[in-house]
Amino acid sequence: MKKALRWTGWLLAGLVFLAACAATFVQVRGIHSYAPPRLALAPVAYTPERVEHGRRLVLSVCAECHRDKQTQRLSGQLLRDIPAQFGRFYSANITRDRQHGIGGRTDAEVVALLRTGLGPDGRIRSVMPNFARLSDEDVLSIVAFLRSADPVVQADATPSHAQEPSFFGKVLANTIIKPAELPTQPIQQPSPTDPVAFGRYLVTSRYKCYDCHSGDILKTDGQQPEKSFGYMGGGAVLQDAQGHDIVSRNLTADPETGIGDWTAEQFGQAMKFGRSPNGPLRYPMPKYSLVTDEETRAIYAYLKTIPAIKNATPEDGPAAVAGR
Ligand code: HEC
Ligand code: HEC
Repeated sequence: MKKALRWTGWLLAGLVFLAACAATFVQVRGIHSYAPPRLALAPVAYTPERVEHGRRLVLSVCAECHRDKQTQRLSGQLLRDIPAQFGRFYSANITRDRQHGIGGRTDAEVVALLRTGLGPDGRIRSVMPNFARLSDEDVLSIVAFLRSADPVVQADATPSHAQEPSFFGKVLANTIIKPAELPTQPIQQPSPTDPVAFGRYLVTSRYKCYDCHSGDILKTDGQQPEKSFGYMGGGAVLQDAQGHDIVSRNLTADPETGIGDWTAEQFGQAMKFGRSPNGPLRYPMPKYSLVTDEETRAIYAYLKTIPAIKNATPEDGPAAVAGR
């Protein structure tokens, strides 16, 4: 008996020691670095069509995180919707400034960063979503816009802020947060004439609604989005502009807790203008005012085809949430 106790004691001491070593390692190493991605890219044609399409994409997808609310330029800011337990994170200056923005980067470096999440320095941009499955045309259009004369990307000499991950944030950055692989094949997007396939592309790759609208922001699957925990069933806990918890909503076709009883028009109003049948939508739900009706209808059509999940979130009322 005594012997067994002594062994248990040693085992516990060993475990504590190992845990302490791991903690020191994470604390000292900070965020892990990788071999920088190498991408061969043919010169990008900055056609007016690409600049225009890229503008719509950047203002819909990137601006919410990268825009300075005072100057309207994409010079970076504190991200307020990240729960404090992960630390404080700042988006970077992505204006044309050569020193503080991305004016000095090659197009290949910018594309590789968007695809993989890795910079030319091999550092992972941990909070930045990667756009691994975005179509080639969408990616090149984004680059064309970032190089354009538009006021939002005009050179701005604001230095990017260093990241301030908490210990927990560093653990995540060294474990579950991984860079994506560079695609080995060209990526084409489905044609809008197939609304369900096009809608799937918009939800999983272009606007990445599933990142916020699945069950947990730490349990999304970047490789196979539909395998994310609680795919599109809502319930992920984010933070509003005041730092209070805000829960994403169920966008599956469940008639009681999802959008099964909504019309395509109601859905379009909620997505574009934040006007939901449940009332005005708050930050961090982006306002997709530049999406086309073709896009909102395709997303609506696609959402009707995915497995419905019964998952009550706060707007369904306290009784529904308590009863789940
Ligand atoms: C959820 C917020 C978020 C969204 C959405 C987002 N970014 Fe970022 N982005 C970040 C953060 C945070 C960083 C800085 C990460 C770091 O330094 O660790 C960053 C960094 C970058 C960088 C690297 C800058 C540098 O100097 O290394 C580029 C380029 C970039 N973003 C472009 C984009 C583009 C283009 C889009 C839209 C397609 C986009 N981002 C969407 C949060 C975001
Ligand atoms: C950055 C996280 C985030 C992203 C990305 C996001 N949403 Fe949301 N969305 C939210 C949050 C949070 C709410 C709840 C807002 C509230 O409670 O006021 C919400 C609410 C909604 C609602 C209202 C649902 C209801 O029952 O009232 C719809 C519709 C919606 N989002 C559609 C979308 C679509 C479509 C996309 C992708 C094109 C998307 N969202 C991307 C965070 C996000």
